[in-house]
Amino acid sequence: MKVLVLLVLAILLQFVGAIVALSLTKRTKYNLAWIFLSVGFLLIAFQRLLEFIPHVWKDFERNVDTLNIILDVTSAVLFTAGIILIQQLFVYLRRVEKERMETEKKILNAIIRTEENERRRFAKELHDGLGPLLSTVKMSVSSLAQMETSPPASEIIKNADAVITEAIRNVKEISNLLSPHILENFGLVSAINSFISRITPGSIEIIFKTNLKNERFGYNTEVVLYRVVCELINNTLKHARARKIEIHLTRDESFLTLIYVDDGIGFDVREVLSDNTPGMGYANIISRVKSIKGIINVESEPQQGTRVVIVVNAGNS
Ligand SMILES: Nc1ncnc2c1ncn2[C@@H]1O[C@H](COP(=O)(O)OP(=O)(O)OP(=O)(O)O)[C@@H](O)[C@H]1O
Ligand SMILES: [Mg+2]
Repeated sequence: MKVLVLLVLAILLQFVGAIVALSLTKRTKYNLAWIFLSVGFLLIAFQRLLEFIPHVWKDFERNVDTLNIILDVTSAVLFTAGIILIQQLFVYLRRVEKERMETEKKILNAIIRTEENERRRFAKELHDGLGPLLSTVKMSVSSLAQMETSPPASEIIKNADAVITEAIRNVKEISNLLSPHILENFGLVSAINSFISRITPGSIEIIFKTNLKNERFGYNTEVVLYRVVCELINNTLKHARARKIEIHLTRDESFLTLIYVDDGIGFDVREVLSDNTPGMGYANIISRVKSIKGIINVESEPQQGTRVVIVVNAGNS
């Protein structure tokens, strides 16, 4: 009796297997694999059925050996062929995933490049368009200042001159922030040093160490690392209440490693890196690093400071 129950169970399971395998045919590219597997399952179910029938029908006769061997061999061939096709399916899926990731990186790269080009255009317009206009006004005001005027008028002229000087300085500053010419002309280390030097002295201690001299890297690599360092520093200034920032930029044979540490109040990394936070800073950092095939690790705990490590290929474009 036990044997009978087990046989029925086996037959049922083979049928379920066959149906599941068959249902997968529509979902994947290598659907022949699933057809092979389901036929294999059906053959085994048929084999079990042949074993089951004599238990209920005593007169049933069959040439057990030959048929069993034929069924065994056929199902083995079908299973092997199915498994080989499934293996190819995984190879295919891996290839598709790799291509998808490559495409994603290319798109990110294009977005960042377009963004940088736009920033550069704005910076140029400000610098070459508004800058000279303000300088002309300043010259006129300076000429006015040299004329004989009543004391209230000369006071107004003096004020106007000061405001125009401030406006010229602001235009230069904004233009430089939009697209730092120093990054383009002198490279990453100079640009980071220049950014750090503009932070109000005394507000925080910033240590920047590097083994780079005047080496230049690909445009994307330099822009990405520069923008990331700026955002990390901004974040520390805005959120961390830190006393100290340490930045290490090191080049070895083929990698460029950025280690950024602050001793501030820290934050919950998982929460910040999840998609539902309003800030764009970290999302931008991560997509920028991804666009140049770099890797990033952010470590932070409340009250434990923040540590960010980024490794990129030094030969990247
Ligand atoms: N160095 C840090 N120390 C403490 N908290 C930080 C630090 N960096 C980020 N955070 C926390 O992580 C959050 C997300 O940072 P993120 O840069 O993504 O956005 P944001 O700075 O709030 O806004 P945005 O960068 O778009 O102006 C911050 O709001 C802050 O709470
Ligand atoms: Mg931020």
